[in-house]
Amino acid sequence: MNRLRFMEEELSRRRESRRLRKLRRVTPVDGAYVEVDGKRLLNVCSNDYLGLAHHPLLVKRAAEFMERYGAGSTASRLVCGNYGCFEDVERKLAQLKKTEAALLLPTGYQANATLLPAICDRNSLILSDRLNHNSIISGCALARCTVMIFEHNDTGHLEKLLAQNRNKGFSRIVIVTESVFSMEGDICDLDAMCSLAKKYGALLMVDEAHATGVFGHSGMGLTCGRDIDIVMGTFGKGAGSFGAYVSCSSLVRDYLVNRCAGLIYSTGLPPSVAGAIDAALDLIPEMGAKRAELIDNANRFRNKLSSAGFDTGLSASQIVPVVVGPEKAALDLSCWLEQKGFMAPAIRPPSVPADGSRVRISLSALHSRQDIDRLGDEICRWAKK
Ligand SMILES: Cc1ncc(COP(=O)(O)O)c(C=O)c1O
Repeated sequence: MNRLRFMEEELSRRRESRRLRKLRRVTPVDGAYVEVDGKRLLNVCSNDYLGLAHHPLLVKRAAEFMERYGAGSTASRLVCGNYGCFEDVERKLAQLKKTEAALLLPTGYQANATLLPAICDRNSLILSDRLNHNSIISGCALARCTVMIFEHNDTGHLEKLLAQNRNKGFSRIVIVTESVFSMEGDICDLDAMCSLAKKYGALLMVDEAHATGVFGHSGMGLTCGRDIDIVMGTFGKGAGSFGAYVSCSSLVRDYLVNRCAGLIYSTGLPPSVAGAIDAALDLIPEMGAKRAELIDNANRFRNKLSSAGFDTGLSASQIVPVVVGPEKAALDLSCWLEQKGFMAPAIRPPSVPADGSRVRISLSALHSRQDIDRLGDEICRWAKK
């Protein structure tokens, strides 16, 4: 019997349904341009919202930190990998996020997958937004407690679940949401979330992966200055490099150091990454004009598509989904855009709901207004074809 037969079968099922995922070789060229299969394309799908990934200060400081501390941190931070540079960056971050403390974690996926199990026990209840990222879904599963899903951004439904369950003997209730949603580009009603959490004595955890660098005071996210128990975010998107953080109280930080498996059982970040983060934290607060231009460009792009009859969902950010429905249409639009010089892969189920296939455009401060207008024109031309 062929032990790996199930893999072959799965791959051929995917091939037949045109859902086979493949890694494509991408070479960064300059600005927002990349080279793919020998073709120069304008990248309109990266999360490098501020164009920091190639910023000379990030590259320089990454090299300096690597020079000073070495290529790796050699062990978990709880063993011998807690280099001073990590704590320095955490202090800088906490100050910017206006929280008592912060904690660096290796990746956002790891953070979400291990924060929820750290703060829940078997008798807890997690209330999670329907469109939360896969890493949060993994965290819910690993927490091995009761999980209920509230309709996307529906605080009415959330309150109903809170009211129904508050006296059911759960050890604690944790509400978890993203602030800017990764696939829809819409924004959570944080005021309502905070007051519901307060009213029902629930903990609130907010994922700021797509808001960090782009929204909020000094670009430090929409939770900045709010009293939220656990905020996580990433440095691999708007901050241009890699890694993740939690910003929280000192109590929560101390607790996570003792309970969060993603910190305890994983090697600390490479020091070069701490260098890039450190530089990004110096630059981001000063980039208000770039942020305003980015949001302005996103509004203009969205308006253009909406007036041409496209569905851009509830997007209110730099992430603009062009929802075309069937998978075939999304693949067709993506191919069309590639022929016209843009890189924007189709996003299909299971990443998005059935019939919600789309091309997810993520705009960056590296795109000029002309780039964005041309992109809008080509999408409109595709619809007419
Ligand atoms: C909302 C959200 N949270 C977490 C993550 C994971 O972050 P990382 O790429 O640092 O693992 C992502 C990545 O796409 C995301 O979109």
